[in-house]
Amino acid sequence: MYFIGIDLGTSAMKLLLTDEKGVIHNSTAKEYPLLFPHPGWSEQDPREWWNACIAGLRDLLAGFDAGAVAGIGIGGQMHGLVTLDAQDKVIRNAILWNDGRTEKETAWLNTEIGKEKLSALTANIAFAGFTAPKLLWMRANEPENFERIEKIMLPKDYLAYMLTGVHACDYSDASGMLLLDVARKRWSKEMLEICGVKESQMPKLFESFEVIGTLKPEVASALGLPASVKVVAGAGDNAAAAVGTGVVGEGGCNISLGTSGTIFISSKNFGVDPHNALHAFAHADGGFHLMGCMLSAASCNSWLCDKILHTSDYAAEQEGITDEKLGRNPVFFLPYLMGERSPINDVNARGTFTGITMNTSRTDLVQSVLEGVAFAIRDSFEVAKSLGLNIERSKICGGGAKSPLWRKIMANVLGIPLEMVKTEQGPGYGAAMLAMVGCGVFESVQAAADALVEVSSVTEPDAALTARYDAQYRKYKKIYPALRDVFPALR
Ligand code: XUL
Repeated sequence: MYFIGIDLGTSAMKLLLTDEKGVIHNSTAKEYPLLFPHPGWSEQDPREWWNACIAGLRDLLAGFDAGAVAGIGIGGQMHGLVTLDAQDKVIRNAILWNDGRTEKETAWLNTEIGKEKLSALTANIAFAGFTAPKLLWMRANEPENFERIEKIMLPKDYLAYMLTGVHACDYSDASGMLLLDVARKRWSKEMLEICGVKESQMPKLFESFEVIGTLKPEVASALGLPASVKVVAGAGDNAAAAVGTGVVGEGGCNISLGTSGTIFISSKNFGVDPHNALHAFAHADGGFHLMGCMLSAASCNSWLCDKILHTSDYAAEQEGITDEKLGRNPVFFLPYLMGERSPINDVNARGTFTGITMNTSRTDLVQSVLEGVAFAIRDSFEVAKSLGLNIERSKICGGGAKSPLWRKIMANVLGIPLEMVKTEQGPGYGAAMLAMVGCGVFESVQAAADALVEVSSVTEPDAALTARYDAQYRKYKKIYPALRDVFPALR
């Protein structure tokens, strides 16, 4: 029996084929463009996702017995607003999770509706990337498009809809819309009203591991798959990645260094950060989690290497960063290339290099970027600690985690051991695990994690280096407050 896990990422779609023992038999990736129509805006055409999905599935299955595929799970970039009209046509490009255009709507929600009420209704406050402010933006700026909306969905749900014809969403992803009453796992009627939408426009809600339907016959025959293939509701990419690294149940932690950077703390019970700096969302295992999300993480390094240094050899750029240099860099980088979400919630924040002199080298800049991302993750880690959460170790995943140097910097900036898992495939593997649960291979997500996830390496912090990084972090902490009021004037 085979299972397919799909990760609808921001830069590419990654697909993998596993068997019921979790052995990965094939994987492939398809890229698509990311559009920045204005500074701070971020869009993608959902039809590109669908084309990538079909092409990816064809590549993935080539040479394999497609008739043995039993289930598909999808993990996807969260918060993106996808709208379809009455003919199921995509109305406009999806407005993505790292889009900052809704400053006005976000401020209106947080001040006029009020953070307290938002938190009572949804367990969260408004952040520019969340879906509800995007609906308000569309209503105010594109009323003719807003009027045409028949179906509202999140990115991965568009793929599931195209595969099955079922308009569905899981609780983990729905949590990031600011339309879900997370504690009670149902749409918040009041929030829907505030945003001017009806429940009939919203997807039907499921647990991530529940089957939403089977393949549409025409899709099945185009791909040579049995029409009986089950599609589960899937999850937001962070929840799916956490499943993939075995961070389920109580008190696990996963750090993801992808386009975004997240720290994800799982919990069996619902809980809210009283200051709402961390998101309080449902998890894909039926429980809940708290999460801090930075908008630019590994993307800071790829920006520096690809766009500025014109190199794709990231490892070569890191070669000069010797042990001696760690914790001693006079250059500091604020990683706010797309504004920032957690914990500062500031769409105007921008990236900076601080501390440059005539002695600053290319290597120092590269190092400062890796460190700046680690310090920004620590900001959310500190919030979690201030809530009394005791994080003694964490899993780490995502493209950035493949760099041993970056893992070392992260482990020492946080002062905890970081574990990599054997099947480091991020959200795609977690999504395949959810499909296995949906198809009855495992009785729960926890059981799937117990059976399939294995730690392959641990990066231990070193006491002296952790102390040096602690001192560096204290310096880093002074930079954003000093610049906070300057950023709006730079726009
Ligand atoms: C989480 C978030 C990002 C996206 C990126 O809140 O916005 O991690 O899901 O894929």
